[in-house]
Amino acid sequence: MKKILITGGAGFIGSHLVRLMVNKYPNYEIVNLDTLTYAGNLENLKDIENASNYRFVKGDITNHCFVDELFKKESFDGVMHLAAESHVDRSIASPMQFIMTNIIGTVHLLNAARESWKDKIEGKCFYHISTDEVYGSLGNEGYFVEDTSYDPRSPYSASKASSDHLVRAYHHTYNLPIVISNCSNNYGSFQFPEKLIPLMINNIKQEKPLPVYGKGDNVRDWLWVEDHVKAIDVIYHNGKIGETYNIGGDNEWTNLDLVHALCDIMDEKLNKPSGSSRNLITFVEDRKGHDHRYAIDARKLKLGLGWKPSLQFDEGLDKTIDWYLQNTEWLENVTSGAYQDYYKEQYKVNV
Ligand code: NAD
Ligand code: DAU
Repeated sequence: MKKILITGGAGFIGSHLVRLMVNKYPNYEIVNLDTLTYAGNLENLKDIENASNYRFVKGDITNHCFVDELFKKESFDGVMHLAAESHVDRSIASPMQFIMTNIIGTVHLLNAARESWKDKIEGKCFYHISTDEVYGSLGNEGYFVEDTSYDPRSPYSASKASSDHLVRAYHHTYNLPIVISNCSNNYGSFQFPEKLIPLMINNIKQEKPLPVYGKGDNVRDWLWVEDHVKAIDVIYHNGKIGETYNIGGDNEWTNLDLVHALCDIMDEKLNKPSGSSRNLITFVEDRKGHDHRYAIDARKLKLGLGWKPSLQFDEGLDKTIDWYLQNTEWLENVTSGAYQDYYKEQYKVNV
């Protein structure tokens, strides 16, 4: 019986990871620690909330007394750390919460794990889930590899880069058993509709403007979220302590091409005249410091640990759109209240 702490398990990627771990490893006890910010939602875990090997703990990783107590009480064998502020635009508008959660919160977890594992580190692992944004921005050529120099350019990516450095520093200085992965853009069900794909799906459905930043020529590498959490499982169990693994989808799209694809698929699904959703596209002011292109070379993970993405993008988009069209109550619940204030401020429009 292993006891694993997953932080941020009520969020987008975290909820998919909790589901995979609870279902795949009935002999593990999975503890989900989440403070339930606007992005955390226990509705994401309805299907497994009563599983005998699953428990939810509400708590804030920036509270070190709480974190220390939890580690003393529970004796975790492993940590999969996903809790974070994750949205770049929010980090540009107000960076401080990103510093608190992504940096300070991570250090509290590192300190608690170090103390808890001081007498026995065999079999223990602190897995820090990070982002490809720490590497900065690419031109039209080239890929991020694991030893690409860090060059974070938004408050979000700088906070994630800082936490990556601290995780590595605890390994080198205190021999804390750690592993890190840096992944490209995820998409799929349960993603909060402030991120590009669910925002566009929701707006197309409601015939609202589709805000494309700048010219829409920025490039992102999209990965199905369920493939990301499968990679996390493989790395947790077979990755080498102290190492970093890049995770990506080999699936680069400009934002404008992607929005066009979403419009065309949804015109067909919603029986609208072909081309009508594209008329909703509105070019808006560019994101400050907008990174041009991210692209991942994931050969270390693919060749070394045998992982590869399972789903083609057209199939993944189809499934994702269907999910958002079918889960209207979820969508309405998460987009009510404080989200509406954020949306109005961000896009200067009424919801
Ligand atoms: P998300 O915003 O959907 O979820 C974050 C979760 O963390 C939420 O449930 C939230 O309530 C929780 N949380 C926030 N602050 C907390 C705190 N102080 N204490 C406890 N819980 C807290 O994020 P996501 O998109 O699922 O990303 C998860 C992780 O994966 C993040 O670390 C992110 O940097 C990383 N990542 C995300 C992507 C992506 O495309 N979304 C890609 C690569 C890496
Ligand atoms: O690369 C991994 C990262 O991907 C993760 O670490 C982050 O947590 C995650 O949010 C994501 O960051 P991005 O900034 O790439 O994702 P976002 O969905 O916010 O934007 C994707 C692209 O679309 C980006 O170039 C900005 C653009 N965009 C976004 C929004 C919300 C628009 O053109 N219009 C929009 O309304």
